[in-house]
Amino acid sequence: MIAIQVENLTKRFNGLIAVDNISFSINSGEVFGLLGPNGAGKTTIIAMLSTMLKPTSGSASVNNFDILKNEDDVRKSIGIVFQDQSLDEELTAYENMDFHGRLYRIPKKVRQKKIIELLKLVELENKKNNLVKTFSGGMRRRLEIARGLLHEPKVLFLDEPTLGLDPQTRNRLWEYIEKLNKEKGITVILTTHYMEEADRLCDRMAIIDKGKIIALDTSEKLKEEIGGDVITIKSPERDRLYSKINTLSWVKHAEPHDNSVTISLQNAEKHVDEIVNLASGNGIAIDFISIHKPTLEDVFLHYTGRTIREEESGTKDQMRMMRRMGR
Ligand SMILES: Nc1ncnc2c1ncn2[C@@H]1O[C@H](COP(=O)(O)OP(=O)(O)OP(=O)(O)O)[C@@H](O)[C@H]1O
Ligand SMILES: [Mg+2]
Repeated sequence: MIAIQVENLTKRFNGLIAVDNISFSINSGEVFGLLGPNGAGKTTIIAMLSTMLKPTSGSASVNNFDILKNEDDVRKSIGIVFQDQSLDEELTAYENMDFHGRLYRIPKKVRQKKIIELLKLVELENKKNNLVKTFSGGMRRRLEIARGLLHEPKVLFLDEPTLGLDPQTRNRLWEYIEKLNKEKGITVILTTHYMEEADRLCDRMAIIDKGKIIALDTSEKLKEEIGGDVITIKSPERDRLYSKINTLSWVKHAEPHDNSVTISLQNAEKHVDEIVNLASGNGIAIDFISIHKPTLEDVFLHYTGRTIREEESGTKDQMRMMRRMGR
């Protein structure tokens, strides 16, 4: 069964095309990822699918409801956790949940029972009467997820669910998301710029760059597509190294990026000596060489010629966290 169907969806903001004619579908029960760097268009896609934002053109359905014609039905059938925090700091965990439950007109008895059940699920039951302003980032995220599930949505949208969280908290959240998907059968669509997150959680993913889907498949298939191994060579003379490497007959796909050249090939270990000889024969220094199986980073590099820079997004995460904390 199809949970989400997207056809030629486009969003323009004045001159900028944030989402550029994308089409894809998500099956019921899938965990589906939108993976891409800052500004790729991930939040805009989620905003359109959750009816928060009108598309410029194209169409989509969520749980068989048209996002343009059946907005209310779409909203009732989805849960959403936004990229920026949306809890009320001055209310307790329970009150935040209760407020949401009333918005969705969930009868009091059912509401009380569900709130406790969900707070248990995210291990916040013993904090139910504490004010949200005393919560850590991870606790807030867990509460937001619990709140998003209160009206029993079939589809849950998570926009950057682990942004700015420490590795341990991130791991715990991944476990909750897996549990929701496996035990409750909820279809999850999440956005992330963390490859590790997409790799670990998503059954399939669309890699997004500049508003376009550049690849869509399971993590395994995407990596297989690159094939074989990847050699990365770091050198202070990257461009000269790159042009020399391209003269080698066995090099089919090389990419210069940052201070390195990356080559995709079969049986990499056979060719390392040749690369070292080529460099030293031309007086090109090499800082290091590594051989590894393709990662999602290599997949992104393969299709875009760029890397999703973790350092860059790291700084941006910090800025966003500060904004979120109201600093
Ligand atoms: N309301 C808006 N008005 C104008 N431009 C916008 C608006 N919302 C988003 N954009 C632009 O659309 C593009 C896509 O933004 P979007 O927030 O969807 O990216 P993203 O992939 O979610 O990025 P991030 O990883 O930083 O969250 C960006 O260039 C952004 O500046
Ligand atoms: Mg975003």
